[in-house]
Amino acid sequence: MIKAVTGTKDILPDEIPAWKVVEETIERVFRNFNYKEIRTPVFEETSLFARGIGEETDIVGKEMYSFTDRSENNITLKPEMTASVVRAFIEHSLGKQQSLSKLYYVSPMFRQERPQAGRLRQFHQFGAEAIGKYTPLLDAEMIEMAYMILKKLGLNNIIVKINSLGTPDVRDKYKFHLKKYLQDKKELLSEDSKRRLDSNILRIFDSKIEIDQQILKDAPLLLDFLPEESKKDFEIVKSHLTRVKIPFEVDPTLVRGLDYYTLTTFEIVSESVGSQSALCGGGRYDYLVQQLGGKFTPGVGFAAGIERILLACENEKSLNLPADSIDIYLIRVNNDLNRIDELKLIVADLASRLRSNDISCDYDYSDRSLKAQMREANRLKAKYVLFIGGDEYKDGKANLKNMESGEQKVIQLNELNESLISQK
Ligand code: HAM
Repeated sequence: MIKAVTGTKDILPDEIPAWKVVEETIERVFRNFNYKEIRTPVFEETSLFARGIGEETDIVGKEMYSFTDRSENNITLKPEMTASVVRAFIEHSLGKQQSLSKLYYVSPMFRQERPQAGRLRQFHQFGAEAIGKYTPLLDAEMIEMAYMILKKLGLNNIIVKINSLGTPDVRDKYKFHLKKYLQDKKELLSEDSKRRLDSNILRIFDSKIEIDQQILKDAPLLLDFLPEESKKDFEIVKSHLTRVKIPFEVDPTLVRGLDYYTLTTFEIVSESVGSQSALCGGGRYDYLVQQLGGKFTPGVGFAAGIERILLACENEKSLNLPADSIDIYLIRVNNDLNRIDELKLIVADLASRLRSNDISCDYDYSDRSLKAQMREANRLKAKYVLFIGGDEYKDGKANLKNMESGEQKVIQLNELNESLISQK
């Protein structure tokens, strides 16, 4: 039997209501903040991500689904959206149409990571990017939107962590000092951290290894290297979060896994989903547009993983899912062999009329007994059941039962639409 590829997952009908609630919440919140949806292709030229995210990152170094197509193009299934959105922003000169582009997306992403709970190879992100203006208010707005969505999904066990990574020149100065500090202790560091010392030193802060963490305890912190202006902007982010009542922690070791960040970065982690706890992450990327061939244009954004959020919602039992039901189930009461085919057609025609009037309905396509049809109506949580084909049928009537109240009445079939619509 052919199975879904490792790290990918079917989203089955039973799971869809929860996805719909998440998707509707996302759209509502983004609309309230005046963000417009953007959709970009599932694959891009590999160089976009190599240049955008950074050659030394885990994503580009070992997680991308890259291949050469039949025309010898180097293609990559998108591992994240920011580089794609920035590419589209430059390609379509969105900056000329308005001074600030506020964009959002919901899309599948692909990363060849080791699969585990909350970590997939095809997963779904929603996120937002605000490109065109520099103001720390937009940094705070990103955190506010992400937090608002998670709260509207009923999540309570979440922590907002923020940091400032400074501008590239400040970060370079800091990296120099960090390296100087770690160089003496190099032999004690884990193998991964030793490697990162030369390739991507900030990521050493992500190490979960005890000895690395011990050594890092006394390491210099980037926040202490920030110039006054960056400190002031970071204060604006913090004070805005306080004003809109979003609790947060400053985490000076929050470094994020993508190279394009400058100044504000953040993550929202859940305390109810185990090791893959980052529900969302983001930050400012003021040099990315320029790096990808546009003119200097500041930007800030975030993305969140829908599967992880759903895991957190499940663990916190936070979603109030609407009952998945249909309006009416049509039941043949007469399975008399001489009449069953005629009745089936009558039921099918009636179903067609109801459906075209936006009344959801279903019926038995085989020859099941009255009892089996009734069981099906219950399983589908039908609001009404119509018993059709009894004695009253010769006068063009049928028996309509309200499944909630149990009330039953004989109605004229040609008035069925009206009577159901009036009760909807
Ligand atoms: P990221 O931190 O790489 O950031 O991913 C954002 C979120 O996507 C994570 O917090 C997590 O919830 C989810 N995620 C990532 N990898 C996986 C996976 N393998 N399985 C399931 N969920 C996953 C970005 O992608 C940036 N583009 C965010 C951003 C937007 N920064 C600025 N603008």
